[in-house]
Amino acid sequence: MFMHLLSTTQIKSKQLQSLFKMTDSIISGELIVDNLVIKGNYSLNRKVILGIVKDEGSTRTRLSFEVAMKRLGGESVLLELDNNSSISKGETLEDTIKTVSQYVDALVVRHSRKGMVEKCAEISSVPVINAGDGDGEHPTQALLDAYTIYKHCGKLDNLNIMIAGDLKCSRTVHSLLHLLSLYENNLIHLVSPEDMQLPEEYKKKDNGTKYIWYPDLNQALEHVGKSLNILYMTRLQKERYMSEDEVKEFWSKRKTPYLGDDFRNKVVGEYYTLSPSNWNQIDHDCAVLHPLPRNNEISSTFDKDPRALYFQQVKNGMYVRMALLWNLFVRGKFLPD
Ligand code: NCD
Repeated sequence: MFMHLLSTTQIKSKQLQSLFKMTDSIISGELIVDNLVIKGNYSLNRKVILGIVKDEGSTRTRLSFEVAMKRLGGESVLLELDNNSSISKGETLEDTIKTVSQYVDALVVRHSRKGMVEKCAEISSVPVINAGDGDGEHPTQALLDAYTIYKHCGKLDNLNIMIAGDLKCSRTVHSLLHLLSLYENNLIHLVSPEDMQLPEEYKKKDNGTKYIWYPDLNQALEHVGKSLNILYMTRLQKERYMSEDEVKEFWSKRKTPYLGDDFRNKVVGEYYTLSPSNWNQIDHDCAVLHPLPRNNEISSTFDKDPRALYFQQVKNGMYVRMALLWNLFVRGKFLPD
């Protein structure tokens, strides 16, 4: 069993089902999870502490991990890789991770560059969870997305799922698609501007998974809106779009490697908004999901619509992360075999 949770490609469908079962029993109160003191494999017999290290903004991922730890009876500490950390004194990310892993029992790492969390895992002496690495992956978000889909549809196979937005850089989508490809005959409708299409490496075709691409959201909804089980919207990942010159400038100005960036005002290409005229085009049973934060993709007037499940999705995130952490600290592994 893997020590770190870096990618959903590590996960098998059987493990997903057991994690969902455990999440259900946490929600129903059947599984009592307070006063978590590590025993068993860890035999530390003390309160567990999770370290959260990040160089990018985060609301849900950070808070849900923190709250999950509190609800389990553990604690968490946060290190922002900014001017308040020794990164500002020229300390490397390597030394930072080596240091934090001396204090905590597991690490949650979010980094603005793809592949960096994996590098952290190579250095860390404790298990590392990838909480988003640039335009790479975000496995725990995919787990809560898959859980939300499963709860809504009662299954994860034979689904019609539309995923719209910046498919090139949305790491939540990259991670989710692998999980969906563990199940039979899912039809994935990908909607994105031409220059934000899903990279081939994430187009998993196992178990009969099929993909259709549409450049236009209105047209796509007109064609298949009524057959959808799930509509998953994503925001434009503005901060990922930098020209080569911007990248050079970015690195030359930077005193130390791997700090967060600030390219939020660069607007790229056209983008998608779910307007009221689209609402009738979507099946009445179709759940509308979004990993959040949202920009203009879904207006808050849609929030009262029974199909709007994105805040339920947020809540599920806390429970799924509780299940993951409980597994890790009590059983010594993120997911059951
Ligand atoms: C996502 C992320 O950070 O990748 N947010 C999240 O964790 N819920 C989505 C995004 O930033 O657009």
